Amino acid sequence: FSARVVIDPTTAIGDVPRRLFGTFVEHMGRSVYEGIYEPGHPEAGDDGFRRDVLDLVRELGATTVRYPGGNFVSGYRWEDGVGPRDQRPVRLDAAWHSLETNQVGLHEFADWARDAGLELMYAVNLGTRGIAEAADVLEYANHPSGTALAEQRRANGADEPFGIRLWCLGNEVDGPWQIGHKTADEYGRLAAETARLMTFIDPTIELVAAGSSNADMPTFGEWERTVLRHTMGLVDHISLHAYYEESDGDAASFLASGVGLDRYIDEVAGIIDEVSANATSVADGGAASARPIGISVDEWNVWYQRRWNEVDKPVVMNGEWPEHPRLIEDEYTVTDAVVVGSLLISLLRHSDRVSMANLAQLVNVIAPIRSEPGGPAWRQTTFFPFQLTAALASGAVVRPVVSAPQIDTARYGSVDAIDTVATVAESGRTVLFAVNRSLDEPAELTVSLPAAGAGLVVGRATTLTVPEGGDRHTSNTAAARPVAPRDLDGVRLDSTTLTATLPPLSWTVIVLD
Ligand code: AHR
Repeated sequence: FSARVVIDPTTAIGDVPRRLFGTFVEHMGRSVYEGIYEPGHPEAGDDGFRRDVLDLVRELGATTVRYPGGNFVSGYRWEDGVGPRDQRPVRLDAAWHSLETNQVGLHEFADWARDAGLELMYAVNLGTRGIAEAADVLEYANHPSGTALAEQRRANGADEPFGIRLWCLGNEVDGPWQIGHKTADEYGRLAAETARLMTFIDPTIELVAAGSSNADMPTFGEWERTVLRHTMGLVDHISLHAYYEESDGDAASFLASGVGLDRYIDEVAGIIDEVSANATSVADGGAASARPIGISVDEWNVWYQRRWNEVDKPVVMNGEWPEHPRLIEDEYTVTDAVVVGSLLISLLRHSDRVSMANLAQLVNVIAPIRSEPGGPAWRQTTFFPFQLTAALASGAVVRPVVSAPQIDTARYGSVDAIDTVATVAESGRTVLFAVNRSLDEPAELTVSLPAAGAGLVVGRATTLTVPEGGDRHTSNTAAARPVAPRDLDGVRLDSTTLTATLPPLSWTVIVLD
């Protein structure tokens, strides 16, 4: 089929927020232990962190990392993870029915994140704990010296404060599965008062209030409205979490997940605007209008959650209490990678409202990077669209005008067969990201560039699609890694008209310099 795309930089919606390429490390499963940290592994450094995994993390090119949870944080005592390791307690992690040894905590993780080039985004426990403990961990982390908590940090080896700017006020508090689950009013009040005290202690921080766990929550919408009425003027971002999966073989709906994310973000943006417009009825009305709220897509990815909820979770939650068991180690296919590419396109398309986003998670647990104990580490299929988007998206984001055939989906109605976004840098470098959602037809794409595009040449054209001899379910494993991006042949730029053939079921990036 044929599709036309028009890129008009005068319609740019703003610059690519670098924090859009965040990620997430939770103390769950083999994310930390046997993931990033495995003393005794041949690749482990003196600090016990795996160098081969660290290299892949650096290659991924993420910008921020959310830590330490997730559901885990709602039962976590941060103090357990600081001080001499041989005195740290082993605790039950009731969120994931595991034992937490606390061998990795704030110091070790902050050092690792710095080595990995990641900005740390720290989540406080608003499940079993509250205002005082959130204030304590902030003071411990960020206050320079001269108080009991700051001196404790220094005695524990960190003379300089960690200087953490980004703080999440709890996690998925709207979900009945969450330890310390609350109503929107209960959470809104707690989040507001926690935010107030944390800002008194360190006015340079940015705070994220917890929004909905997914767009199908019965409380979605009213939750955001209520929480924002309590917290507007006191926080900088509200979160949303979004996971997608292919259900009952409905590939068409799955490949349209980006449309689902578009609508979800648009709804939250609308609620932010609505509450902002009525800010005079908010307790902190004066400050509210002066403190814009961004959307933090704190957790997003493909996750075969139905399998977790219906098959694995009932077993895990009623069994033994193991240390770092294998939990939700989804093995991603080509189809999953194309959807991840499309979700990144959706995030870029909303750069005017999405202030940051975290691919959940980073290693082993629904992750772009996998590792085996004592064994190799490797790139899952989803690694590639994330890495290439983080590396190549720069400058202003442009939403192209698309004319393409429609694909009928059970979940989202008719959607464009092509999904695209572009970025245009000051140098003129124009980067087009495109997904062909058709499972069996190539897309003959014609892209009209602005007159300024006349001097550009095709610098790079890369596609991720079904490999030779594979199918849409092909994945990368410890034994074989057949899925990798390859050059897209036949891309032509003729003055201001670009033509390319996008393979069926593919994610593509074309760079014009
Ligand atoms: O990322 C896995 C889990 O998904 C997180 O712990 C939780 O916040 C979400 O439900």
